[in-house]
Amino acid sequence: MKPHIIPIPSQLDIHEGVFVLHKNVSLYADADLIAVAEFFNDYLKEKLGYTLLLQNKQDVQTIQFIQDDAIENDEGYQLIVSAKKIQIKAKTAQGAFYGMQTFRQLLPAVVESDELQIQNIQITDAPRFGYRGMHLDVSRHFFSVDFIKKYIDLLSQLKMNTFHWHLTDDQGWRIEIKRYPKLQKVAAYRNETLIGHYNDIPQQFDGKKYGGYYTQEEVKDIVNYASERFITVLPEIEMPGHAQAAIAAYPELGCTGEVINVATKWGVFEDIYCPKETTFTFLENVLDEVMPLFPSKYIHIGGDEAPKTRWKACEHCQKLIEKENLHDEHELQSYFITRMEKYINSKGKQIIGWDEILEGGLAPNATVMSWRGTNGAVEAAKSGHNVILTPTSHCYFDYYQSDNESEPLAIGGYLPLEKVYSFEPIPAELSKEEAKYVLGAQGNLWTEYISSSEKAAYMAFPRAIAMSEVTWSNPRKRDYQDFAYRLSHFHKQLDAQHVNYANHLYEIEGNVTTRDKQLVFDLQTVIRDKTIRYTTDGTSPTGNSKIYDNYLPIEGSIILNAAVFDDTQKLGRDFTLVYNDHKAVGAKISLAPQPHTSYPGSGKEGLINGVSGNETRYGDKEWLGFWGKDVTITIEFDEPTKINTISTRFYNANGQWIYAPTEIGISFINDEDGRTLNQISPIQQKDETLIPHTFQLNGVMTKKIEIFIPNYGSIPEGKQGAGNKAWTFVDEIVVK
Ligand code: ACM
Ligand code: ZN
Repeated sequence: MKPHIIPIPSQLDIHEGVFVLHKNVSLYADADLIAVAEFFNDYLKEKLGYTLLLQNKQDVQTIQFIQDDAIENDEGYQLIVSAKKIQIKAKTAQGAFYGMQTFRQLLPAVVESDELQIQNIQITDAPRFGYRGMHLDVSRHFFSVDFIKKYIDLLSQLKMNTFHWHLTDDQGWRIEIKRYPKLQKVAAYRNETLIGHYNDIPQQFDGKKYGGYYTQEEVKDIVNYASERFITVLPEIEMPGHAQAAIAAYPELGCTGEVINVATKWGVFEDIYCPKETTFTFLENVLDEVMPLFPSKYIHIGGDEAPKTRWKACEHCQKLIEKENLHDEHELQSYFITRMEKYINSKGKQIIGWDEILEGGLAPNATVMSWRGTNGAVEAAKSGHNVILTPTSHCYFDYYQSDNESEPLAIGGYLPLEKVYSFEPIPAELSKEEAKYVLGAQGNLWTEYISSSEKAAYMAFPRAIAMSEVTWSNPRKRDYQDFAYRLSHFHKQLDAQHVNYANHLYEIEGNVTTRDKQLVFDLQTVIRDKTIRYTTDGTSPTGNSKIYDNYLPIEGSIILNAAVFDDTQKLGRDFTLVYNDHKAVGAKISLAPQPHTSYPGSGKEGLINGVSGNETRYGDKEWLGFWGKDVTITIEFDEPTKINTISTRFYNANGQWIYAPTEIGISFINDEDGRTLNQISPIQQKDETLIPHTFQLNGVMTKKIEIFIPNYGSIPEGKQGAGNKAWTFVDEIVVK
């Protein structure tokens, strides 16, 4: 039987025969690998109910952990299963550990006999990137030590090697600092928490005190647990922004000295650390307690989303800008980070910061974590700094993973498994030399909308599984169909460990397209050997519904419901595609500029395919995203066409930097008198997610329409992402 290994190994050859694993097989390990062999025995005990006798000779029927300097990569390994023995060879214990993790995937998820046949096989494997990470925000919601350990254990099964622990933020400080007891008493708790979505009007709160923190003993326990699994714990202590919880405990850390509360809702807050000597002393003292707890060579200092409002109005900050000959508040942020870097470097550690640390000049030895797209990564790598890729478009696992309406509430956006899987961590702009600065990539799990460990698992898995293959495997080996198939087997391993992962493998992808000039629905499933059944009368498909075969001709507006079946048994959830016929469907369309590569939707044709975008997920196939650019859309008809209305919609999610434009224009040549007509209309700004606009044209005849959508411009002060360019998201252009 073909094994289903994730992440897919570099090389895998299947041989004739099997190794029979039973309780009298012996175990051998070279001295450096004994701890891994013991870990393996603990696993067998749990899985099979017995351990193997660790012997110091290489017996006939043995599983052997062999230290082998010929294996080049420190994290690489070779796994050879033959009839008489199983060998795991590696240069280091870490490599041997990964060999063991691969071996685990050769065993069935549920063991029914204590004698197991293992296919003879030879695997040679090593990772593509040295940094393979997952992040977890424990400030917005707090997670138990047991859950953190389970998360770490799962990451280690995927051969990930870094757990980025986001420990401090506006909504709670989560690590014990003995010198500052108010961080525990005040900063670790908020009075209440926002419920529902941030964009709900009015915002609602639960009225319940919420919080908690990890004691230093618990931190040590977690770090130790992680290190047994070759996972480095990267602690993040945010500065100068996302500091409201700390300032609530010690108001003198802020610019105003005013007493404020730990934040009770999400977003970006103006109260940030004031760069006073006493603030630096506080942060140095905090780091003096943090650094010894974490063997990691890196400390993450945050650096993102620090509004400069307070600094602009603060006498001390303004004097400091003058005294240090700084240009502006961005250079003051750079001064802040560089000064903290110097301190951290003096303790033998390096810093990592979010890509805002590039603004105002990058600290000399910093590693950049690029989250606002990949420009930060490109800029940093080109200037000789190490980078880690974690762009929102492919790495934010707090986004929706399915466009199904029954998904649990998420922050917004749309990041399905396949998009994660398609991620290429090395930006195309980098040369081969520059690409060496890319250490790897990471999935982020921000927890504003994740209040339980079950939901955290649901959002993280399987997207973290895709990320493991993105960061470990050779891109030439990546194939989504094959991955999905292996994943369907990996699900059983997760079931056996009671992991509440999301399963969207039996969902349908539907498109409106043309075949032989005929408009058709094209339905696809990821797992190929199943049946799709559908209805067109608005009902939910059942085991008796019609079977979808190959394209469904579309004759006019229609609602299609479909689902995946194993013959007559429904496997996944219903998929609905609403097709609204209008005059522009099938017309010629062009766009200038093209949408941002992270949000291409289904291309320009998606704007006139009769299908509107999802109302809560701006990243789906129907929404096209443009970043900071004015857009011109041109639609051309085969012959003069009578037009009464042109309607479209804009997405408006200011927390995600998405703004409807303030106006929209059209231009067309009136076919009756040959005159060009231009029309510009203001767009009413509202606190709503969808902003529609309709032009009334009262039956003009034309062959060609141009639509101008100017970008909103810079994000205003006080808003999330202030000063950055806004995004424009547009979906269907409906012409009637
Ligand atoms: C971030 O998402 N603010 C790094
Ligand atoms: Zn200040």
